[in-house]
Amino acid sequence: MKFGGTSVATLPRWQNILELATSRRAEGARVVVVVSALSGITDALKQMCGEGDKGKRIEAARAIEQRHYELLGHMELELPPALDARLKDLLALAEDGPAKLGELAWQAQVQAHGELLSSTLGAAFLSRSGLATQWLDARDCLAAVALPNQNERTKLLSAMVDARPEPALNARLAAKGEVFITQGFIARESEGRTVLLGRGGSDTSASYFGALLKAARVEIWTDVAGMFTANPRQVPGARLLQKLDYEEAQEIASTGAKVLHPRCLSPLREPRVPLLVKDTNRPELEGTVIGPQVREHAPSVKAISARKGITLVSMESVGMWQQVGFLADVFAQFKQHGLSVDLIGSAETNVTVSLDPTENLLDSDAVAALAADLAKVCRVKVIAPCAAITLVGRGMRSMLHTLSTVLAEFGQLRVHLISQSSNNLNLTFVVDENVVDELLPHLHELLIAAGALRTDDSALFGPSWQSLYGSGEVAISSAWWREPGQRKRLLGIAAEATPRYVYHLPTVRSQAQSLKQLGAVDRLHYAVKANTHPAILSALAEEGFAFECVSPGELDAVSATVPTEVPLLFTPNFASRSDFERGLATRATITLDALYPVEHWGELFRGREVSLRVDLGRGLGHHEKVRTGGSGSKFGLPVDQLDSFLRHADAHGITVRGLHAHLGSGILDPKHWGEVYGQLASLAERIGSIAFLNIGGGLGVPSHPGEARLDLAALDTVLRQVKAAYPHYQLWMEPGRYLVADAGVLLARVTQTKGKGGWRYLGVDTGMNSLIRPALYDAWHEIANLSRLGEEADGLFQVVGPICESGDVLGSDRRLPEPAEGDVVLIAQAGAYGKVMSSPYNLRGDTEEVVLDD
Ligand code: LLP
Repeated sequence: MKFGGTSVATLPRWQNILELATSRRAEGARVVVVVSALSGITDALKQMCGEGDKGKRIEAARAIEQRHYELLGHMELELPPALDARLKDLLALAEDGPAKLGELAWQAQVQAHGELLSSTLGAAFLSRSGLATQWLDARDCLAAVALPNQNERTKLLSAMVDARPEPALNARLAAKGEVFITQGFIARESEGRTVLLGRGGSDTSASYFGALLKAARVEIWTDVAGMFTANPRQVPGARLLQKLDYEEAQEIASTGAKVLHPRCLSPLREPRVPLLVKDTNRPELEGTVIGPQVREHAPSVKAISARKGITLVSMESVGMWQQVGFLADVFAQFKQHGLSVDLIGSAETNVTVSLDPTENLLDSDAVAALAADLAKVCRVKVIAPCAAITLVGRGMRSMLHTLSTVLAEFGQLRVHLISQSSNNLNLTFVVDENVVDELLPHLHELLIAAGALRTDDSALFGPSWQSLYGSGEVAISSAWWREPGQRKRLLGIAAEATPRYVYHLPTVRSQAQSLKQLGAVDRLHYAVKANTHPAILSALAEEGFAFECVSPGELDAVSATVPTEVPLLFTPNFASRSDFERGLATRATITLDALYPVEHWGELFRGREVSLRVDLGRGLGHHEKVRTGGSGSKFGLPVDQLDSFLRHADAHGITVRGLHAHLGSGILDPKHWGEVYGQLASLAERIGSIAFLNIGGGLGVPSHPGEARLDLAALDTVLRQVKAAYPHYQLWMEPGRYLVADAGVLLARVTQTKGKGGWRYLGVDTGMNSLIRPALYDAWHEIANLSRLGEEADGLFQVVGPICESGDVLGSDRRLPEPAEGDVVLIAQAGAYGKVMSSPYNLRGDTEEVVLDD
C-alpha cells in the first residue's frame, strides 16, 4: 500500500492509513506500507541541497525537524529514538555539505531523508496504535541496476531497479512480522550508496516491492479514485475507468494523466501483479484496477488526453527521398542536444517530430541551438506551442470506423501531425495549443455519442468525476420503464404477446410541455413521420401542438384524429402533382421545395399562400443518412434559384408567406437553430412577403449513457436573441423525435443463444423488421433484459433478430445478465422512427402497438 505526501502529512491521514492497513490485516493479508516524505519536505530538502551557505542549510534542517516534531505532537508521541537519530543524521549532512560524499551522492543522501523520516515516524505511530509495524529499510531490498548510457547524475538521482520476484525476501519478511513500513523513492547501488528513483519515485517503489514480493496486489492510495477517461479538470463528465490492462494504463499515464507515473507499471507486468488506484478519502469508491489483459470488453476508446507545451520540429529536404542516412543524420543532432523525440511523421521530403516538455528541458535556447545545427542538413521549421491530443484504447485501428465525427472535428482545425502508435494503442493529433481547452470536453462528448467510448459498459466505465467529486450530476430523469410498477406492467404486456411496441403517453406529454417553455417559439408542430399512432396525435393536439405531414397518407391520419381547427403543414419532398392536389384540398399550409412545381404546375397554386423550403448549404445530424441539407441532399431549393422561384410565383399570383429549413435529425447543439433562424431571417428581408420562419425539427435526445441532453434553456436564450433582432417574423418549429423517442419501447422475447467464434449471440423474436434504425444508421438503442433488471450483468452479447440479413443486429457488445429462453428484452427509445419504419420483410408479421396512459 503506497501513500503519497499529503496522505502522510497529518494525524487524520495517519489514522486513515492505520484503518486501511488494519482492514487488510483483517482480510488475512500481510502488508507493506510504502510512504513518501511529508508533503513539502522533498522540495525543502532539494532547496537545502542548492544552498551553499552552511548556516542556511542548518536552518533548513531545523525547519524540517520542526515539521516532524509538530506531527509527533499531534500524534501525542514521545520522540522515538530512531527518529531522533535520523534527524541528527540530517543535521550532520547539512553541516558537512557535499564535501565528504561528493555532490551527487550527498544530494541523494539528503533527499532520502524525507522518506526515512516519514517512515520512521509512521512505524512509531502505527505500532503505538496497536498495529505492530516493522520499519524496513527500502535500500536493503531495492538494488539499483547499472544501465548503459548512465552518467553519475542519472545513476544517483534517477536510478532503476530490476525487480523480479525474490522468494528469499518474502521468507525473510515473513519471519519478521506481518506489517512493514518502508520508504518510497530510494534504493541502493552496487557500491552501497543511497540512490533516488527519480520522478514518480514512490509509486515506482511500491511497484518494485509488489514485484519482488509477488504481492497479491499493489494499492496506490491517492487523492482521486483512479484514472479517468479524460482529465477531470478539463472534462468534469470524465468517467472513472474501473478496469485497464497494463499497456493501456501505461499509455494513458504517459500521454497526460498524472495519477500514476508510467514507470511504475512495467515492473508489475511480468509477475502479473495487479495494481489498484484508490482514493484515501473515499475508500468505499471502487477505484481503478490495472492488470493483465483480459478480452472480455467491448472494443472501446478508454481515454482522451491532452499534453500541452509540445514543440514540433519540421525538417524539409529535397534531397531526402530514399537518401541513405538522412534520418540518422538528423536524429544524431537530437541526441547531440540531449533532446528526446516523441512523435514522428514522415513524408517523401519532410520529417516532423515532436518534443515533449515532460521528457525534455525545453527552453528556447535548447531548441534554437538544435535548429541551428539541423539547418546544416535541411530546412527547419519550429512550430510551437502545440498540444498533442491522444485517444487511447487497445486495438485502435479496429475502432477507426467509429471515429468519423471525431475526425471531422479535426478537419476544422490546423492539424500539424497525426501519429498512430505502432503498438495499436493510441492515435495522436498535434494541433495548436490554444484550441485544446475548448476542444477536449467536446471531443469527449463526441466519443460517447459515436459509441466509440462505450460508457454503456458498466464493467469498464464507472461514475463521472462530477458525480463523485463535483456538485453532483445534473439530475438525469431515469427512464419511465425502469420504475418497478411500469416494469411489472410491461412484463404483463409481453406475456400476452411479443414483439410489441409500448408507448407511454405521460412521457410524450412531459416532452411536449418542456418544448412549450420555449418562449420565442410562436407555433410548435409535431412532425408526425416519427410516430403516427392516433393516441400520440391526440395527446399532442391536447397539448396545443399543430402538425406537420409529408404525404397525403399522413394528412389523412392526422385529419382523422385531431380537431379540425388545429393548423397543419404539408411539407412533401419530390411529391407528385396529385399529392399536391390532395394537400391543397386540405387546410394545410403547403411547403414547396423546388422550382419544378411553380414552373410546371403554377396554376395549381394560384392565389395561394405557400411556404418555401430552402437549402442552406449544409446538413447536420446523428448520421449521414439523416442530414437533409447541402448539395448532396435532395431537399430544399438552393438559394441561387430563389429569384427564379419568386418570379414564377409572382407570375401565378402565389404569395410566399413563409421560409422553411430543416437540416437534419438528432442535433444536440442549441446554437444550430439560432443560426438557421438568422439565415432564414436575412433571406426573408430580401423577399418582403414573409410572415413566418419555420426552423424545422431535428431536436435530438441522447442515447448513450452520460451523453448530455439538449440544453433547452440555452436553446431558449439563443432563439430569444435572434427573435429580438427580427421581431416581425413568427417563429415555427416542427420536432418529431424529441417528443416521442423516449416514450416508446420495443418488447421482444429471447428465442435462443449461440456462441460462435468468440462472440455470444442473444436472439430475440424480432429485429430489423420492427426496428431498422440500428441496421440503417448504426443507431444505438439501450437494451435491457426486463426479466432480469438489476441482476449482475456479466456477459457481452450481440443482440440479434431472426431476419435473414447479417445486418439484423439490434445491439453489439451489450453487457447483459445471463439470459434464458423466454426472457423479455426491452429495446429503449423506440418511440420515434420505430413502428413507422417497420417492414413486412420475411413476413414476420406486424408488430403490435400498446398505449399506456399513466
Ligand atoms: N421536419 C422535416 C422537414 C423533416 O424532414 C423531419 C425529419 C422533421 C421535421 C423531424 O425531425 P426530428 O425532430 O424527428 O429529428 N429516420 C431517422 C430520422 C429522419 C428524419 C426525417 N425528417 C431516424 O430514425 O433517426
